[in-house]
Amino acid sequence: MSDFTGKTGLIVGVANKRSIAWAIAEALSARGARLAVTYQGERLEENVRELTAPLTEPLILPLDVTSDEQIASVFEQIDATFAGLDFLVHGAAFARREELAAPFVQTTREGFRLSLDISAYSLIALARGAAPLMEKRGGGSILTLTYLGSDRVFPNYNVMGVAKAALESSVRYLAADLGPANIRVNAISSGPIKTLAASGISGFSSILQHYRDRAPLRRTVETSEVADAAVFLLGPAGRGVTAEVLMVDGGYHASGM
Ligand SMILES: NC(=O)c1ccc[n+]([C@@H]2O[C@H](COP(=O)([O-])OP(=O)(O)OC[C@H]3O[C@@H](n4cnc5c(N)ncnc54)[C@H](O)[C@@H]3O)[C@@H](O)[C@H]2O)c1
Repeated sequence: MSDFTGKTGLIVGVANKRSIAWAIAEALSARGARLAVTYQGERLEENVRELTAPLTEPLILPLDVTSDEQIASVFEQIDATFAGLDFLVHGAAFARREELAAPFVQTTREGFRLSLDISAYSLIALARGAAPLMEKRGGGSILTLTYLGSDRVFPNYNVMGVAKAALESSVRYLAADLGPANIRVNAISSGPIKTLAASGISGFSSILQHYRDRAPLRRTVETSEVADAAVFLLGPAGRGVTAEVLMVDGGYHASGM
């Protein structure tokens, strides 16, 4: 079992107990990590404070990833409290309902900008903030969450698929930039899971059923399974892995039909 005792991490993307980022936070905390967990806006603050109450001395901070000031403040507070950082989990994504319902060709300039900013650019901004703190520890590990819609067309995934393609490409460029500082950057491509973000995609339940019918494992995955893969990538067992997109989808991606 990977031991995270004495390690500190930043978790971005917890909305509620169904969030994939929350399952990852729980798995890391159970292995000894001390965590900073952010919430997006006052609406989610209480949820996140209640959820994280059982963790060991969590640092709870506001973060809207569209704000450079809030990003800077998060890393200042983490450095003041933890004096460095070992890992970062990025689980923030957003697309407006209009963009997830209308035909893709109707994607608006503003909807595209917002989706790419929140779901892809934010990884670059957070990696830039995390890197100096990770260098203090002799290296670190960064992980983001993506979906196969980056590469293939899924009904109504639309602009989010384009954002995930940008995100996966950013993983590779960041891995190349930060690798010499012993900072690894990877993504997990999760199969579909019923979460708050997923509820915005019209017809999401038919995507879930398709996976149950077609994936080699004949089922969908659970957040705890993504979390176990995250423990591997973030911890010492994954020390030779960077610039990778690891599929945790019951094998669905291999199906030809
Ligand atoms: N659920 C799935 O089927 C699935 C599959 C593959 C990948 N993913 C990805 O996993 C990640 C986590 O999503 P989830 O399914 O756990 O849903 P979720 O709704 O629990 O998490 C999405 C998070 O993004 C945050 N967010 C949105 N806009 C933000 C902003 N401006 N600033 C800061 N945070 C912001 C939300 O607060 C929320 O915590 C996302 O990147 C998602 O695309 C999800």
